[in-house]
Amino acid sequence: MKRPIAMIAGTGHAVPKKILTNHDFAALGIDTNDEWITDRTGIKQRYIAGEGESLTSLSAEAARAAMKAAGVTAPELDIIILGTASPDRLLPATAVEVQAAIGATRAAAFDISAACSGWVYGMKMAEGLLAMGDAETVLVIGAETLSRIVNWKDRNTCVLFGDGAGATVVKRSTKGRGILSAYLRSDGTLADLLQRQAGGALRPVTPEVLAEGSNCISMAGREVFKNAVRSMADACDRALDGAKLAASDIDLLIPHQANIRIIEATAKHAGMPMEKVYVNVDRYGNTSAASIPIALNEALRDGRIKEGMTVMFVAFGAGFTWGSLVVRF
Ligand code: UT7
Repeated sequence: MKRPIAMIAGTGHAVPKKILTNHDFAALGIDTNDEWITDRTGIKQRYIAGEGESLTSLSAEAARAAMKAAGVTAPELDIIILGTASPDRLLPATAVEVQAAIGATRAAAFDISAACSGWVYGMKMAEGLLAMGDAETVLVIGAETLSRIVNWKDRNTCVLFGDGAGATVVKRSTKGRGILSAYLRSDGTLADLLQRQAGGALRPVTPEVLAEGSNCISMAGREVFKNAVRSMADACDRALDGAKLAASDIDLLIPHQANIRIIEATAKHAGMPMEKVYVNVDRYGNTSAASIPIALNEALRDGRIKEGMTVMFVAFGAGFTWGSLVVRF
């Protein structure tokens, strides 16, 4: 089937009310400082979910904004796909709670566990559903409440992550707009480098697990960094090949926002000058599956993306999983 089949018809995002700046860690008794976090990651602040806020509530807020932008109502949604590594409950999927919250009475709903690549994976699934004729209107959400699964005693990880949700309404392509190429990969041999070791069915939560914090995120930062750059660089090449385009044809690169140094290295490899790369990691931290759809929504609202532009998205996360998309707006 000839692309483009599926296009982005509307976007939205939501973040919690509370902001935690780099300076706020001192008051939490965490041995870190603004200089280290800024130099090593580019992060200055992140949003943290508080009482009354949940993955469901953030996702529903982002979804309502995306549906408004797309001019669709909740009962028109055929499928809700939610990429997350921090679901409200392990069972059922948060996607069904979003389905109930927004009143998507006709929609099927499921979560995707592809960590930071969840939104890119979800977009590819949405395209496939449209191609098969199984759906006309799909809601793809990337959302996280990572603050609830980080170890607040581990300075290696707790400074990096933030909470938020980004939503995208995907509809059948018109006027040549939509996904021009998509590329997905994984490498489970490296699963241990970024994980929550316990808390699943294999190693349930016990007092011992809680004491050692092995139910929280742990990461071999340097190894993850190297793999992220290598894989995202490869994914950019593959997405460009798939779309039969050169880097110079891309108007904006929206990479997963984990670390400014990873973003810069990826852009350099892809042959994209930093003026054509969207960066908001300074304001959100690493929001995993939410990072690309939040950045996309901002870029559309800011006028960084205009009709007719070609945008490349690239993600990398736990698994490892990675992937890329080239999309014409
Ligand atoms: O979203 C999906 C994937 N995730 C990522 O892409 C993240 C990938 N990794 C990274 O972004 C970086 O590796 C980090 C930001 C996590 C770490 O940066 P780094 O330059 O690789 O630092 P490092 O892990 O090699 O640690 C350097 C030093 C260590 O001290 P010693 O052993 O050299 O004395 C750490 O203990 O920095 C220390 N350190 C800190 N110091 C102050 C680690 N965390 C902190 C901290 N504040 N928060």
